[in-house]
Amino acid sequence: MREGSSPLIRREDYTAPAYWIRSVDLTFDLDPAKTLVVNRMQVERNPAVAAQALRLDGEELNLTRVLVNGDSVSFRVENQQLVLDNLPETPFTLEVRTTCAPEKNTQLSGLYTSGGGFFTQCEAEGFRRITYFLDRPDVMATFSVTLKADATKYPVLLSNGNLVEQGTLDGGKHYAKWVDPHPKPSYLFALVAANLVCREQKIRARSGREHLLQVYVRAGDLDKTEHAMNSLIASVAWDEARFGLSLDLDRFMIVAVSDFNMGAMENKGLNIFNTKYVLANPATATDADYAGIESVVGHEYFHNWTGNRITCRDWFQLSLKEGLTVFRDQEFSQDLVHSPSARAVKRIEDVRTLRQHQFPEDAGPMAHPVRPDSYVEINNFYTATVYDKGAEVVRMMQTLVGRDGFARGMTLYFQRHDGQAVTCDDFAQAIADANPGSALATHLAIFKRWYSQAGTPRVQARGHYNADARTYTLELSQQGLPSPGQPTKEPWVIPVAMGLIGPRGEHLPLQLVGEDAPVGTERVLVLHEERQRYEFTGLDVEPVPSLLRGFSAPVLLEDHLSDADLLHLLAHDADPFNRWEAGQRLALNRLLGAIRTGQALHLDAAYIEAMRSVLRHPTLDAAFKELVLTLPSEGYLAEQLEEVDPQRIHQVREAARLQLAQALHHDWEWAFETHQVRGGYSPDPVSAGQRALANLALAYLCLGASVTHDPVWPGRTYQRFKDATNMTDRLGALSALVNSHAELAEAALQRFHALFRDEALVIDKWFALQAAASEKDGRVFARARQLLSHPDFSLRNPNRARSLITALCFMNPAAFHRTDAAGYVFWADRVLELDAINPQLAARVARAMDRWKQLAEPYRSAAREAIARVAARAELSNDVREIVTRALAD
Ligand code: TRP
Ligand code: ZN
Repeated sequence: MREGSSPLIRREDYTAPAYWIRSVDLTFDLDPAKTLVVNRMQVERNPAVAAQALRLDGEELNLTRVLVNGDSVSFRVENQQLVLDNLPETPFTLEVRTTCAPEKNTQLSGLYTSGGGFFTQCEAEGFRRITYFLDRPDVMATFSVTLKADATKYPVLLSNGNLVEQGTLDGGKHYAKWVDPHPKPSYLFALVAANLVCREQKIRARSGREHLLQVYVRAGDLDKTEHAMNSLIASVAWDEARFGLSLDLDRFMIVAVSDFNMGAMENKGLNIFNTKYVLANPATATDADYAGIESVVGHEYFHNWTGNRITCRDWFQLSLKEGLTVFRDQEFSQDLVHSPSARAVKRIEDVRTLRQHQFPEDAGPMAHPVRPDSYVEINNFYTATVYDKGAEVVRMMQTLVGRDGFARGMTLYFQRHDGQAVTCDDFAQAIADANPGSALATHLAIFKRWYSQAGTPRVQARGHYNADARTYTLELSQQGLPSPGQPTKEPWVIPVAMGLIGPRGEHLPLQLVGEDAPVGTERVLVLHEERQRYEFTGLDVEPVPSLLRGFSAPVLLEDHLSDADLLHLLAHDADPFNRWEAGQRLALNRLLGAIRTGQALHLDAAYIEAMRSVLRHPTLDAAFKELVLTLPSEGYLAEQLEEVDPQRIHQVREAARLQLAQALHHDWEWAFETHQVRGGYSPDPVSAGQRALANLALAYLCLGASVTHDPVWPGRTYQRFKDATNMTDRLGALSALVNSHAELAEAALQRFHALFRDEALVIDKWFALQAAASEKDGRVFARARQLLSHPDFSLRNPNRARSLITALCFMNPAAFHRTDAAGYVFWADRVLELDAINPQLAARVARAMDRWKQLAEPYRSAAREAIARVAARAELSNDVREIVTRALAD
């Protein structure tokens, strides 16, 4: 646990380091109980900064020796820093010896053990838990690393860069020496010493250069590495083709580890991954898992340029690498599919994630700008805002300068800043400078408010058709609500991609008053003032506006469209995103109406028919249909309400599901029968879409049967569960049963557990499925609480802890928010237990209560009490303290 107070770190306090560390030579004598680290640094004063003491960061280290140019010197340790005064004016060698205890490191930051091996995680501030260092991203050094360890227990010894030497040592040990020629900040350091096997492949890049790609896993998992390797090969090719960025290393390694706090880490040449984002075969992984692996492998690989070659000056600039790299991995996954509708499916999924996670964050106590102004614990700022809203900011830049203009901007960015630690301003400037005259360059200062202002902008749109003048006037206005520390907001630059659709579904030519001729049927309006008017001319018919196509900006749009307009867009919009959005809006209007009035929900014939025609549509993709026919989540519904009664939301949404199940019964049967994928498993988007739609149909058919007590569909579902040849179908069937048929569900759950008892990632699904099941009479909550004492449950493994806790507290509002407050008691107990083991993870779980102020009574008071109980604990980590303090602030 961290000691001492927890000061607020402010962006405006940034100063350059007083010293540079140019190179580091590290020797590790690896032992789980006591690892010796010898750290020899070449240090020199930074002449640009006034002379002062050298302060090296260190945490939970035993310091045994400090030498300057080979001589022992006086030093002190103060506020977890090693302080050295009276240092030479000329460059000097500093040697620091420390020991640490990897097996006691349950935080999984720094050097730790997992499954009998050694692994590291240094971002953001884990390197200081390995040795004393200037642990900040603007200090970049070349690393040479010698690893010594028992040869039998740890046959594989890896670090960044190239292997230059290896051999045996006395006492059954061996060693390996690695040299990374690229200067890097300490957060990109990594080592692995473990008993692993690898899949490897040589590839030749466009440039002709040969690279060795390797994926390291535990011995039994080699059959689950093919997809990760394919994703890596595709990533290398994509970055060359799309941005002209090629791999700068001879060897690129991915290592999978089962104890890991996040998804993966982009350490130079040695990416370390959560097993969840590496291991997949058809029997154990779902289509969603395959897609996740592709994204995360891409993401970490793309960091090699956006993050590693050009890194962040300080952690406030985190979105410089994360927003940009999320944007790149999203584009990568879109470019891997070929049809426009499959691209749209990916875009819809990304927007759904943004709305589900980032919009609530931006509306709650943790709201912060994409480039935050202050933090207590940087780990708390690896957020949906920095990652996903950050990606939207980059996407808007691309929209404003065009795809080619954006590629030119990237080229300029690398010309200017390769090898440097820079800021978000530097990035935006490069994209703008490469595109003089563009809307981005013209409005750059205003555009950059996306980095500095928190909160989701609200955009109002009102249209008026004048038949006599044949004009259509569109008025757009924008407004920002207060957020913590930001009471008022200035206008943003908001690109609004749009089209106008005529009464027969035709896409009307777009000509603004003052233009000589129409310019196509889609264009981007750039809203940069509080209110702007656009007058379209030459229109013989009254159009329905299709605004914010492809979700061209991360805003809340109020377009005042009628039900009839939305049905028109659902039927005719050429933009698949807005077509999906229209379907969601139709559902939202109905569900929110019933939630607000307390009246029974009745899905009208117009809505049902619209859903039926999407489902039966001859040319739309199955994946797209599945997205349209999935109702907005309970969490998304909650975000639309002023006051939230989670039980009421659940009741209404379940009623809607049941009505869709019953009204479309024959259509669901048809959909199920006609979307069977035959032949071997492949995770491609077409067959994944078919499986998704078939599984949705199955869920609706079982739901319908739970009312009629017709045994046929539950029986068929159980059979399908047993006979499934891939995890997507098996889990789909299991989930349909768990949410509809108690008895068959029990049998299936037992069988599933027995089948996969040795597959940790599948057992995670087993826990999550039960904790996220549709709540009925408190049974799901009771089950989740029971599962805490299941022999397979553990808080020490983050994936397992999340499988139960996240599924209940984040993904299952109706099970979590109870009138007896038992859900909140569960939450507080887990946060406190976890905090003693792994503060980073505890703080993530703590955020389940972010939106407590929105709750209706009695939830609200009970929630406040639970948060206050956590906050009252004296020995709380900085991580959790920052979250609960913000939650309780007014
Ligand atoms: N930089 C990593 C990524 O986005 C994520 C990361 C940050 C991380 N901090 C971490 C991963 C701590 C594990 C643990 O890809
Ligand atoms: Zn990242």
